[in-house]
Amino acid sequence: MSKKPSKEASRETFTLTDNRSGKSYELPVLKGTMGPDVVDVRKFYADTKCFTFDPGYTSTGSCESKITFIDGEKGVLLYRGYPIDVLAEQSDFTEVCYLLLYGELPSPEQKQKFETGVSFHTMLHEQLNYFFRGFRRDSHPMAVMVGVVGALSAFYHDSTDITDPKHRMVASYRLIAKMPTIAAMAHKYTIGQPFVYPRNDLNYAENFLYMMFSNPCEEFVVNPVLAKALDRILILHADHEQNASTSTVRLAGSSGANPFACIAAGIASLWGPAHGGANEAVLNMLTEIGDVKNIPDFVKRAKDKNDPFRLMGFGHRVYKNFDPRARVLEKTCHEVLDSLGIKDEPLLDIAVELERIALEDDYFISKKLYPNVDFYSGIIFKAMGIPTSLFTVLFAVARTVGWVAQWNEMIEDPSQKIGRPRQMFMGATERKYTPLHKRGRAVSS
Ligand code: ACO
Repeated sequence: MSKKPSKEASRETFTLTDNRSGKSYELPVLKGTMGPDVVDVRKFYADTKCFTFDPGYTSTGSCESKITFIDGEKGVLLYRGYPIDVLAEQSDFTEVCYLLLYGELPSPEQKQKFETGVSFHTMLHEQLNYFFRGFRRDSHPMAVMVGVVGALSAFYHDSTDITDPKHRMVASYRLIAKMPTIAAMAHKYTIGQPFVYPRNDLNYAENFLYMMFSNPCEEFVVNPVLAKALDRILILHADHEQNASTSTVRLAGSSGANPFACIAAGIASLWGPAHGGANEAVLNMLTEIGDVKNIPDFVKRAKDKNDPFRLMGFGHRVYKNFDPRARVLEKTCHEVLDSLGIKDEPLLDIAVELERIALEDDYFISKKLYPNVDFYSGIIFKAMGIPTSLFTVLFAVARTVGWVAQWNEMIEDPSQKIGRPRQMFMGATERKYTPLHKRGRAVSS
């Protein structure tokens, strides 16, 4: 499956003929270590005075990367070469963070040092408590995340020099360490409970559950099954190559913006229901369906071209096969429900039946629409007692390491340029300006 390393142009070329002028252009073909070949169009405009047109970037590679590989046809996902199901089964989240950031699995000493280094940064600057208090109590926690993470750049000036590798690494550790604290504080603020400070003797997932669910009045013991399930969800969401939010982080960072501002931009992009917001949308949809007997009506609506309704948690831009993360989560979902003794969870019954019906339906089969990772993560979060509005926040917590790994890779890439797409202009050609007093009254139709 492996080919020669990338970067070097192969001798292969792609010939493109302009049928208007009869001129032909030879475009170099680049080869990655895996995946489709890439036609290099960097000189295309200079040579042809034409742009390529690809809204939604369905045929466009925006960067060279060594971090995550996806084969959507086969349902393969690798972090630095390691299959996602193996990592979910045998690794843990902090090890995966190290792998994504540094490219190799850590030795036991490296892992210990990394965990200590990250946990050193779990607390927030105390002044940020007041920043939280400026939000309405009923703010959506993703709105709070965008604001607070962006505001970190106003607090940690000593890690915003992006030309300094040490600054970049400290900012990366800070973001990974502080995201669970910010997420749990957003929740506590909503429900009017005091903020809970992090506990560095707990692991990453345990500490998050502790900050979310403990209070100063009672002893709190973390449920190890839930901590393990959360750790697995974090691993599964840690990176996913050049998706919308990661591309947003790279694009924001390409101008030289500081890492906290870039990750805030990534969080904003993740929020949408077509991306990270889908896990929240799945739960809302299952609640709206309400009963197994209503499923056929909703499936009918999803198939109706004139109805904007889509089955949330189904379909993926890249996976045209089962999302490998969904396979792992399906199993985890049942483990969590069993361990919590949840036998009759109506939403799960609806989810299972919906999955069965959709997987047997010609519409979904022919369009290769399979359940994606969000289909199951929402049900697990609900069973854990995490409020629906916090689902996408947890996705952001997990994806932060992917964002910072991709951001670091971009800054270190010597061929990196500011991202600046072009357009096909369809507006008015140049017009003569008429001063206001000479314009007639607009006639509304
Ligand atoms: N329900 C019903 N029909 C669907 C669905 C769905 N969930 N998803 C796609 N389709 C249909 C489209 O209507 C379209 O039909 P057409 O060819 O007849 O016009 C066809 O399948 C292809 O869909 P596109 O929107 O062109 O595919 P695209 O790659 O642009 O979109 C996306 C992918 C956004 C994920 C889409 O499948 C979707 O909206 N799914 C629901 C939201 C969701 O679960 N998002 C989570 C993505 S995973 C993640 O971010 C972690």
